[in-house]
Amino acid sequence: MKIVVTGGTGFLGKALVPKLRAAGHEVVSCSRGEGIDIRDFEKFKSFLDSEKPELVVHCAAHVGGIGYNALYPVEIFEDNVHIGLNLIKACHASGVKKVLNVVPNCVYPGKLGEYEESLLWEGAVHESILSYAMPRRLLWGACLSYCKQDADFKPVHLIFPNMYGPHDHFEPIRSHALGALLKKIMEAQDTGDATIEIWGSGKPIREWLYVEDGADSIIRSVEQFDSFTANEVMNIGVTKGVSISELAEMIKSAAGWSGSFTYARDKPDGAMKKILIGEKMKKLLNWEPPTSLPDGIAETVAWYRKTFN
Ligand SMILES: NC(=O)c1ccc[n+]([C@@H]2O[C@H](COP(=O)([O-])OP(=O)(O)OC[C@H]3O[C@@H](n4cnc5c(N)ncnc54)[C@H](OP(=O)(O)O)[C@@H]3O)[C@@H](O)[C@H]2O)c1
Repeated sequence: MKIVVTGGTGFLGKALVPKLRAAGHEVVSCSRGEGIDIRDFEKFKSFLDSEKPELVVHCAAHVGGIGYNALYPVEIFEDNVHIGLNLIKACHASGVKKVLNVVPNCVYPGKLGEYEESLLWEGAVHESILSYAMPRRLLWGACLSYCKQDADFKPVHLIFPNMYGPHDHFEPIRSHALGALLKKIMEAQDTGDATIEIWGSGKPIREWLYVEDGADSIIRSVEQFDSFTANEVMNIGVTKGVSISELAEMIKSAAGWSGSFTYARDKPDGAMKKILIGEKMKKLLNWEPPTSLPDGIAETVAWYRKTFN
């Protein structure tokens, strides 16, 4: 199948594009670095007109960690509104009927700890990531509107937890907890520091999806695309979380660092639990993420050492 991957040069895209090619698909990536800014509607539509893909996997986004969201809420909000609306409008105008939209779990109501598909609209998103989450919710609404007017148009939405692995963002401003901890531990190993401070109590529970498994889930969803209904939502859930302190101990052990952690308990914890329920995924894809967290962390530590040393 001919597939355009938007954001094929990003963290997820770098895992996805080669795997899609290896699975026999013809893949074209698009990003600003490759000369296509989706915020420019005419340029993006011309690109789709000339490539004529059967399906678009949408991974492009203006995205960062919680600190990045606090610094650049306006740019994040505006860019993602423009990216989302142009994406769907250009796909529809260019005759692309199938869109697989990659969605972060922050679209779920902030008050929930466990996220099941039927609960997506049962409350507001968490205030801390509102500028990123609202445009992603808007895109679902835009897709629904196009589906109502065109019965042949078929977007499908896959909701992902935090991912980690090779090519992750480790710089403090862009990273999630796992990448940030991994970088701190690797640096402490180099400098000989014996303690690392972790923000909050260390108790919040998070789930972590290895990026290669995330890419595999997309490939399975591409291959079973016809079994989805228009505008359907499905979690790609690990369904099992670990506390931040357990996560820190796992990275410490994978890196072979012998120091210890202190907890800055006056700093915010954020939501105490964020878990995607993956029952629908197990049934529809007949699959669940195979990489254990310790194995995935060991791979990531090895990649980090090879890349940055
Ligand atoms: N990383 C995670 O843990 C995680 C977890 C859950 C869901 N997700 C979702 O997965 C998707 C991809 O995330 P990621 O971590 O791979 O992000 P990323 O590493 O920041 O990659 C973003 C990609 O989008 C492209 N892009 C950004 N602005 C663009 C624009 N205006 N026009 C065209 N391309 C643009 C970037 O390339 P240029 O900068 O060259 O344009 C890059 O290829 C996002 O929707 C994200 O919400 C990620």
